[in-house]
Amino acid sequence: MILAIETSCDDTCAAVVTRDGEIRANVISSQGVHDRYGGVVPEVASRHHLELVGPVVEDALTQAGATLPQLDAIAVTQGPGLVGALLVGVASAKALAAAHRLPLIPVDHLHGHVAASFLAPDPFEPPFLILIASGGHTLLARVEDHGPDWEVLGSTHDDAAGEAFDKGARMLGLGYPGGPALQRLAEEGDPAAFDFPTAQQVAGLDFSFSGLKTALLYKLRELERADPALPARRRADLAASYQRAIVETLARRVERALEQTGLGRLALGGGVAANGPLRERMRGLGGVAIDIPPMALCTDNAAMIAGAALHLPALVFPSYLGLDAYATGERGL
Ligand code: KG4
Ligand code: ZN
Repeated sequence: MILAIETSCDDTCAAVVTRDGEIRANVISSQGVHDRYGGVVPEVASRHHLELVGPVVEDALTQAGATLPQLDAIAVTQGPGLVGALLVGVASAKALAAAHRLPLIPVDHLHGHVAASFLAPDPFEPPFLILIASGGHTLLARVEDHGPDWEVLGSTHDDAAGEAFDKGARMLGLGYPGGPALQRLAEEGDPAAFDFPTAQQVAGLDFSFSGLKTALLYKLRELERADPALPARRRADLAASYQRAIVETLARRVERALEQTGLGRLALGGGVAANGPLRERMRGLGGVAIDIPPMALCTDNAAMIAGAALHLPALVFPSYLGLDAYATGERGL
């Protein structure tokens, strides 16, 4: 069994996963303190990780019926993410591993999102194309095997898709995180009410969301000038049209990538993969085998970090004691 710890952003996560990829425990403690600021405050996140990481690890071990000496290894997200937040996880993992002379497996957060598809009970086998869309990343990659060397085919020039959801939600007066709130408001609205841009002019398999964000801002200003008390119905129309533009931006790149690579298999990962209309749009792609992990494995979690660790080399004690976190990936994302 592997115990994994993930603290790259604002969720404090610990999981226990077996060698066969069976999830014995997957504990996620969302901090819920960042909504008042309209986004994650890094230093606040780090302090909360510090308080939560102990109890979250204990919870995961209890749920799995495991003790530390029984583990084969401890895995931890090394980066990319908020460096102070990552350091809490890295230091905790090092301390727990060293105390029991266990091996340590450092994991790249994005490899974790890919590995969410490898977990039981329905492992999705490479090769496949993956769309990872979260608050920090939006990219398309070709996954040939279970290891960390998957190939990035396209990524965003500016905002991540989740960021586009969060910023749009903020403009519409909704709380953080914006994705789920915007999806709820959009359910009351007409996705065809406004024609928002879908960045089709961006070359290749890259994405861009900044034009869309500006388009929403200008449309809101224009509507509020005409009627300062914007009716709820109109706000819902804006949310639905904006959401459709994000979904179409993602979906059309996925279609192009499937065509270009000839891959007939597609996986989704990252928090935005929890979005209902995106899941529906992807399920509608003809002739493609599709894997959309359960919601709890799409948003940040530690089970996916353990899933990646199963395919990575372990560092033996004491070689990992000097291990550091990294804020951005070598992939330059
Ligand atoms: O993967 P994740 O949990 O954390 C990062 O690594 O960023 O993704 C969080 C992002 C946030 O931007 C959030 O608004 C978005 O995923 N998200 C959604 C939904 N649920 C979460 N976006 C759209 N629709 C959702 N239902
Ligand atoms: Zn993530």
